[in-house]
Amino acid sequence: MTSIAQTWMVIPMDAVLSYLKRNEGRFLARLREYLRFQSISAQSEHRADVRRCAAWLARHCREIGLETEMHATAGHPIVLARTPRRPGAKRPHYLVYGHYDVQPPEPFELWDSPPFEPAIRRGRIFARGATDNKGQHLAHLNAVEAYLKTGTDLLCDLTFLIEGEEEVGSANVGPFLRKHREALRCQAAVISDSGMPSLKQPALTYGLRGGIGMEIVLRGPARDLHSGTFGGAIDNPAMVLCQMLASLRDAKGRIRVPGFYEEVAPLSPSERRRLSGGSFSGRELQKLAGVPRLFGEAGYTPGEQCSARPTLEINGLTGGYQGEGGKTIIPAWARAKITCRLVPNQTPERIRSLVIRHLERICPRTVEMQITPRRGGSGPYLMSPESAEAQAALRALRASFGRAPVLIREGGSIPIVSQFKSILNMDTLLVGFGLPDDRAHSPNENLSLAAYRLGSRFCARLWPELAALGKRR
Ligand code: BES
Ligand code: MN
Repeated sequence: MTSIAQTWMVIPMDAVLSYLKRNEGRFLARLREYLRFQSISAQSEHRADVRRCAAWLARHCREIGLETEMHATAGHPIVLARTPRRPGAKRPHYLVYGHYDVQPPEPFELWDSPPFEPAIRRGRIFARGATDNKGQHLAHLNAVEAYLKTGTDLLCDLTFLIEGEEEVGSANVGPFLRKHREALRCQAAVISDSGMPSLKQPALTYGLRGGIGMEIVLRGPARDLHSGTFGGAIDNPAMVLCQMLASLRDAKGRIRVPGFYEEVAPLSPSERRRLSGGSFSGRELQKLAGVPRLFGEAGYTPGEQCSARPTLEINGLTGGYQGEGGKTIIPAWARAKITCRLVPNQTPERIRSLVIRHLERICPRTVEMQITPRRGGSGPYLMSPESAEAQAALRALRASFGRAPVLIREGGSIPIVSQFKSILNMDTLLVGFGLPDDRAHSPNENLSLAAYRLGSRFCARLWPELAALGKRR
């Protein structure tokens, strides 16, 4: 099918694509530079590094010709960058979102090269943040640079919103979206912060899970006690915590919090067909994860379990003595971090309160419990891949990757996506360039250089496709 955009854009698109090709070396050098910042949003000792990273990004946006502002928030800064507007022109407006913060790199000893010293091996660049998410939004900035530097009309207005708190729940973007509602309301948002099954299967992600998190501390004795003298009459907070947490999930993976599944929308047969046709097989999943055997809720395929079913996980668990040798104590406290992944139509508020209420009900009186809910939380997201915008993105994917794109639903969360919907009434096109073995959040995170290159080409081809839809709101 030849869209209007393709017939208009034949020659200018060539200039853009050849700019991308000619500048591949620079784009790679720039990614390396960006990846050196230790923009770890979760760790307060890196506050200054996060800030320096934002400042570098803002300067880069200015250098490629974007009108750029850095906005302070209650947490880390938000970088807002606009393509130069034409006075009087009423053009379609799209928003591109990304996050410059990264997950903590620990455990360091499992990295083959230091996490903030980017290294290229086997056609991939290894560094914390390579795929999640610096490389992916840099691909968008590279594409826009190609338009601006070749003097090619983008045919639409773009606003980049790149934040520094995605990996800690994006608690400050909601207020920011509300405050700048008029300037930010667009036709749709575009985010490249997800994945594709392989380089030969570029993907549009039409669903994400939501999430909530909390920290639980149980306190027992006033100090660690001799387990011989006191063991028997004094309860053990670490034991109690294990018993409580273990009771939250049965052996088959069903979550045992009353009401947890009440709002879960059943999967339609057509949805289930699509999910089973999508990503990788059970065997591939087992290999990728490095587990002796798969697990999962009965009656659902691994693809469904990892994207369309809710979960409750322990992310961290500690208490008592973990050093060398043994220590016969009853620990004074035990602590856990837990999260839930949510699917339509669960809401963060309700699931949070169900889990807290249940924990309060099952906690014995022998210990004191303190629950600290994580700020933020995100709703699940599901869009129609039939929409005109989704179809435009699929055309751009096919043209740039030279392969038929697939539709996938993914299990991760991007908190701003449900807020785009609830605050700005905007859908989000999720087209990511991560690969199944990119090790996001793990040691040896990496981005395929081919994905980085093809991703930039997709970003370039997307705008004429979307612009051709015209101004729709
Ligand atoms: N890029 C991910 C989200 C993602 C992961 C999308 C896998 C599709 C597939 C994002 O940076 C992320 O990790 N989000 C966090 C959010 C949380 C900290 C609130 C997540 O999903 O754990
Ligand atoms: Mn992430």
